[in-house]
Amino acid sequence: MTPSLPRYAQLFDLTGRTALVVGAGSGIGQASAQALAAFGARVLAADVNTAAVADTAAAIRAEGGMAEPIAFDMRSGEGMEAALAGQGDIDVLVATPSINVRKGLLDYSEAEFDRVVGLNLKGTFLLLQRVARGMAERGRGSIIVFSSIRGEVVEPGQGVYAATKAGVRQMCRALAAELGPRGVRVNLIAPGVVETPLTAQIKNNPEWYRAYAQKGALQRWAQPGEMAGAVVYLASDASSYVTGSVLYVDGGWTAQDGRFTPPL
Ligand SMILES: NC(=O)c1ccc[n+]([C@@H]2O[C@H](COP(=O)([O-])OP(=O)(O)OC[C@H]3O[C@@H](n4cnc5c(N)ncnc54)[C@H](O)[C@@H]3O)[C@@H](O)[C@H]2O)c1
Repeated sequence: MTPSLPRYAQLFDLTGRTALVVGAGSGIGQASAQALAAFGARVLAADVNTAAVADTAAAIRAEGGMAEPIAFDMRSGEGMEAALAGQGDIDVLVATPSINVRKGLLDYSEAEFDRVVGLNLKGTFLLLQRVARGMAERGRGSIIVFSSIRGEVVEPGQGVYAATKAGVRQMCRALAAELGPRGVRVNLIAPGVVETPLTAQIKNNPEWYRAYAQKGALQRWAQPGEMAGAVVYLASDASSYVTGSVLYVDGGWTAQDGRFTPPL
């Protein structure tokens, strides 16, 4: 008898799953929330910007999807616990919030360091603890955290941000190792340059914007929606054997040297 084949057409289906998307008020988080809902997930759209996240949830519902906005501050463990109380079991977590202060290390103030590390690294840690415990108890779940090409390659002015992006990578790989035996997968996405409010400072400088476009093999910036395929893949059963990985969605930024195209 021929063994029955997996139902490949349903690999990306998220019907019946609840996805908590933190940072859903803007940029990549907003696109992630919309995409997960489009594949059938019930989305808890969480953000410190309550007006923005209400808009995200309303837009998803207008398209026939399921979404509820949640006021959520990733810097407060107790606040997150209160916000998640009564929201039901979480099957998928997407964590996007991060800030960047672009400044040389010798010019960085201690307050700036604390602000960037406090959200990007400590906030991610507090969030992972709050959500991953329940997943481990239930024996299933998929966690997706946004790192960056800056977790790999740097330039002047990115020292503290880059440290947090490499930091979340290693923290998530350790969590993948700790929770793999309990059925929870943990992966990272490392975007290249994406047009969002986070990178508005660069977009406002034509030379800087153009130089970044030319660095990658695809020779352009990404739109937030171009991260959504990676999010749905890692959230769904399509990636059932993927954990502890970093998925580069960087248009070829880290693949090519980029200093010079030899005359061939
Ligand atoms: N945009 C890029 O080019 C790029 C490149 C590489 C990596 N990334 C990474 O992708 C992720 C998303 O970036 P983005 O460009 O969408 O950012 P963004 O600034 O557009 O959105 C971040 C969202 O997080 C929310 N947020 C901020 N502080 C919060 C808090 N304390 N609690 C809850 N929510 C909070 C903001 O309100 C906002 O809605 C980040 O981790 C970033 O490092 C972005």
